[in-house]
Amino acid sequence: DRSEFEAANAPSEAAKKVKIGIYFATWWALNVVFNIYNKKVLNAYPYPWLTSTLSLACGSLMMLISWATRIAEAPKTDLEFWKSLLPVAVAHTIGHVAATVSMSKVAVSFTHIIKSGEPAFSVLVSRFILGETFPVPVYLSLIPIIGGCALAAVTELNFNMTGFMGAMISNLAFVFRNIFSKKGMKGKSVSGMNYYACLSILSLALLTPFAIAVEGPQMWAAGWQTAISQIGPQFIWWVAAQSVFYHLYNQVSYMSLDEISPLTFSIGNTMKRISVIVSSIIIFHTPVQPINGLGAAIAVLGTFLYSQAKQ
Ligand code: 3PG
Repeated sequence: DRSEFEAANAPSEAAKKVKIGIYFATWWALNVVFNIYNKKVLNAYPYPWLTSTLSLACGSLMMLISWATRIAEAPKTDLEFWKSLLPVAVAHTIGHVAATVSMSKVAVSFTHIIKSGEPAFSVLVSRFILGETFPVPVYLSLIPIIGGCALAAVTELNFNMTGFMGAMISNLAFVFRNIFSKKGMKGKSVSGMNYYACLSILSLALLTPFAIAVEGPQMWAAGWQTAISQIGPQFIWWVAAQSVFYHLYNQVSYMSLDEISPLTFSIGNTMKRISVIVSSIIIFHTPVQPINGLGAAIAVLGTFLYSQAKQ
């Protein structure tokens, strides 16, 4: 009978919800810590290409050590796997460095307000590049997303074009990354955690030569002296924290992507941005005008309408 059936299945359903809940809460908390240390580092040391590279290097190293010491089981991969990972890694690298460049130019909250417009990019890419169509309410939900982001952008006190474009490029790149990764993880012999580890390693290989070309060791060394003299030796811990937390939050997000639909993932991601926007405004005393906040709120609300419409 139905109630018996429900009773028998209740614990596992509930357990699954608790598990996803723990993943989400961990993901958001790690992400808030990452965003704070990343911005503290960028304020003292404005070399986003290097800090993006260090985040990937740190994650790659952590995973290589975990595999070598068998804390985590190394994935069995072949050339096919790495080939299919390449487009994901290209998108991940572009999205990551663009977001970091953005945050080096504008407030963390502003970058994340623009990044809350990611669902709009997802719909536009799916529609115009993949030829997928959606029900009308999905398109309508783009109006508050795009309108809210636009309102927040034009009323932003410290608007900067590079900061704005960086967040927009990151949105576009991450839409491709998410589409490719969910596909790549589908026939999976590789877990979410190891998939993200391989992604870090490949992205690190792609990003390093560009970081050297754009910024380079000379700038890094000179800037490092200045940062250490201003902040003191604890500056190195800030760099370590931004790098470690970058890997951890992404790893947890890929572990959850493994278990949930891309839609649930994107709702979780938007809720993550609310916690980042609010906490970074408090911590960095970011000035916000009411109209600016209204734009952000409309954009975030639009994302919720989008998720409802898509369901
Ligand atoms: C990055 O550095 O990759 C960005 O902060 C990523 O942003 P997201 O994971 O919040 O989309």
